[in-house]
Amino acid sequence: MSETIRIKVIDKQNNIQVLEAPTNIGLSLMEFLKASGYPILATCGGMALCATCHVEILKNYEQLPEPTNDELNMLDTLPHLFPTSRLSCQIKLTSDLPDELEVKIQGEMEGEQ
Ligand code: FES
Repeated sequence: MSETIRIKVIDKQNNIQVLEAPTNIGLSLMEFLKASGYPILATCGGMALCATCHVEILKNYEQLPEPTNDELNMLDTLPHLFPTSRLSCQIKLTSDLPDELEVKIQGEMEGEQ
């Protein structure tokens, strides 16, 4: 089992970065993105209550664990929803994930109106 996952991140300015994330320390994708310098608001702290951690999954969406009803309900409140939208706080980085993901940040960042 792999202890890292490769994540290609595209930010809202379309800057691209490929990161290696650990899958053995219990981080969510939102926590990893914030720790990597993406200032996602994450107002609710990862409780699936704010949707500011919205990401669009561009690769391997179908290999992720299914979203919960709480996550789907919160995604439904977003004005811009994509077919592969997820809340990054609800994606736990574990060795069950595919080796590679590609995500586009779509949520709210600190300092944005
Ligand atoms: S951090 Fe609030 S919904 Fe993910």
